[in-house]
Amino acid sequence: MRTSVLPMKSNISNSLRSLNRRSVPWICSFFLALFLSPTVFGQGKLIRFAGETGGAEASSRAVAQEWAQKTGNKVEFISRPQDASAALQQAQQYWAAKSPDIDVYMVDVIWQGICAPHATDLKKYFNEGDVAQFFPRIIENNTVGGKLVSLPWFGDACILYYRTDLLEKYGYKEPPKTWEELTEMAKKIQEGERAAGKPDFQGFVFQGKASESVTCNAIEWIYSFDGGTIVEPDKKVTINNPNAIKALETAKGWVGTISPKGVTTYGEEEARNVWQAGNAAFMRNWPYAYALGNDPKSVIAGKFDISVLPKGGENGKNAAALGGWQLMVSAYSKAPDAAADLVRTLTSVETLKKRAIEFSLLPSRPALYTDADVLAKVPWFKNMLPVLENAVARPSTVTGADYNQLSTSFFQNVNKVLTGGETAPNAVQQVEKVAKRIAR
Ligand code: GLC
Repeated sequence: MRTSVLPMKSNISNSLRSLNRRSVPWICSFFLALFLSPTVFGQGKLIRFAGETGGAEASSRAVAQEWAQKTGNKVEFISRPQDASAALQQAQQYWAAKSPDIDVYMVDVIWQGICAPHATDLKKYFNEGDVAQFFPRIIENNTVGGKLVSLPWFGDACILYYRTDLLEKYGYKEPPKTWEELTEMAKKIQEGERAAGKPDFQGFVFQGKASESVTCNAIEWIYSFDGGTIVEPDKKVTINNPNAIKALETAKGWVGTISPKGVTTYGEEEARNVWQAGNAAFMRNWPYAYALGNDPKSVIAGKFDISVLPKGGENGKNAAALGGWQLMVSAYSKAPDAAADLVRTLTSVETLKKRAIEFSLLPSRPALYTDADVLAKVPWFKNMLPVLENAVARPSTVTGADYNQLSTSFFQNVNKVLTGGETAPNAVQQVEKVAKRIAR
């Protein structure tokens, strides 16, 4: 039975009286919400973000969507290649066209000289106090000609992953201290595991692909043998030296012995796939592989640990390449204010903490390395502060916008050494020529 929609008069006035009493706070909050809602003030901007692919992607998407909802904006994700060199090529196409189609880019620590002309100066949005909370070394790296090109998002310093169960099984008490020791240990474990019925087992996986991936590996080998960093900060070209040659020859010796032949086409993920399937004793990789390896579904969960990368001989040095990713607002963005606000959220203490705990990504804020929640989940982060601070930088500051040209010559030549297409002495000579042209 339908009830009347028209209440009696007395009922109306009663209702109004009670509406008055009960609704005042509601009405007030409605107008307050209307007043505070950014949509009312014409936000509703679309921010396109070329962010990460893989492991932490879903999480950064969720953080960005949450930001969009809170601010009344929209976020769209633009997919980008996983390989750093391929990602640079893609970004450069947008920059060459001065395209407004991407607002926020995730950019590599080594690209700052290349991206500077295409970046909005973030000093407009982040004051000195904000900026001081990030690693000063990275802020300095990201400041080109006085412009703050990008804000640090997460750091990378390479580490040695090793199987604790297998080291114990083959009678080793600790991880290798030198590359020579690693070679011996990897050989013994590989032989033993293959004989025990694992024909695909590998001693050591790394990244030998002709891209920025092998640039990082090779700079570590060379620096660890005391062979410099290709071009030194004072512009001196040092790549053509006996230690660099020795380092490259050592690495060449691994291919097809303790490492698969295919390692010359491996990037980070290819190496991790072999490792995480339980098919390698050692792996060189960035910290992100730690959380993935310890995922409850991973067959190696709880069976590995990490250490510093080995030295090149007793008198060599421990060398971890300095990597890491930054967030940049495009100079061609039509909504730089909203884009910078998204960068603020993505680089906040809260977001970085979540990324450290869930994805073992090194925070760009030093304070988080003593954070109790972070250390409870990734205790080894306390040792990563000095590793990060002493990590070996690729010569990107000294070569600026020409860095990629130098790195391309380097990675192509190193890859040729690994595949047997070039000798190490010839390879370093080729790189030297290009470096001398660039570092004038
Ligand atoms: C990692 C590093 C980055 C480097 C890349 C090479 O992503 O963070 O700096 O260029 O690896 O593959």
